[in-house]
Amino acid sequence: DKGQYPHYMLKEIHEQPETLSRTLSHYLDPIEMRVDMPDGLDFAAIDRVIIVACGTAYYAGMVAKYMFEQIAGLAVDIDIASEFRYRDPVLSPKSLMIVVSQSGETADTLAALRYAKSFNLKTAALVNVMTSTMAREADIALPIKAGPEIGVASTKAFTSQTCALATLAVGAAFARGHIDADTAAAHCRDLATLPQRVVEALLCSDDIAQVAATLIDAKSIFFLGRGPMVPIALEGALKLKEISYIHAEGYAAGELKHGPIALIETGTPVIIIAPDDALFEKTVSNLQEVAARGARIILLTDAKGADAAKGLSKTIVTLPTATPLCAPIIQAIGQQLLAYHTAVTLGTDVDQPRNLAKSVTVE
Ligand code: F6R
Repeated sequence: DKGQYPHYMLKEIHEQPETLSRTLSHYLDPIEMRVDMPDGLDFAAIDRVIIVACGTAYYAGMVAKYMFEQIAGLAVDIDIASEFRYRDPVLSPKSLMIVVSQSGETADTLAALRYAKSFNLKTAALVNVMTSTMAREADIALPIKAGPEIGVASTKAFTSQTCALATLAVGAAFARGHIDADTAAAHCRDLATLPQRVVEALLCSDDIAQVAATLIDAKSIFFLGRGPMVPIALEGALKLKEISYIHAEGYAAGELKHGPIALIETGTPVIIIAPDDALFEKTVSNLQEVAARGARIILLTDAKGADAAKGLSKTIVTLPTATPLCAPIIQAIGQQLLAYHTAVTLGTDVDQPRNLAKSVTVE
């Protein structure tokens, strides 16, 4: 039931304060403000995490790589399932394999899980559907608690995957002695503010709809970010192409001058995802590079970033201020709304985009 919403996708976008609250209550102890580490998951016993997934779930894993490495000092390899399964990957026995999948049925991801099991690796499946094959076959089934996702383009599953992985990164950091209990509690308190920040992010919907209306004639759109905003740029481009059918490319902003900048013409829309973080200045210099080549800049940032970039971009969307653990999720919501409103303006079938299936059970 879509309730008051014209599409499941919009309903699911707006459910995110609740779905993220559920994810957080599963992984955090709200009284003690610590991570409730799922049974069997011992991050002190491993020296590497391998995250394998497809599509949007892969981008959630990519965000998690930044979190595990930065907060927990734990090395993370991230792989596309269809590549991992056929590549003869070299697996060290002290690795933990985490497959990430909304459906828990994606053929390539399941094959990657089975491959890791055949090498006796410890495996965990982070899934939305707990009755799925991956949940059954992995050593540890980790729920994301997003509830049924009907829209083919993944929204609430992505933010709950990212959120669950963020809590695990904090738990891993503490378990490994990389941070003390006070620092872990501070991270947990920070994550606990996420649902309220998401409520505020959703209030940007009308502003974003206005930006979307200016994109409908674009033949190509670029999405740029740095650090954890790289996967969000890739996710923004994926979401836009899958439901609006506009050609879009996401890039690490620093890669621009290694090729893609050749594609920038007068009026090419370039979406820059840059909250005020440690890399903000670097991203702003990439903004200036594309602006100098005539690009039409659309900056998605936070209040401090908006202030700093005044005069550099005519179009600025100010999303809520968030810490590094929460910012990728807040910025992802901006991307979901941008893709949604662009597609609706173009009149495409938002919930059932052409050529796509919700669950890809054949390779
Ligand atoms: C994009 C999207 C797909 C899925 C991918 C993996 O919006 O929904 O890219 O993320 O097919 O599906 P799951 O997570 O079910 O393994």
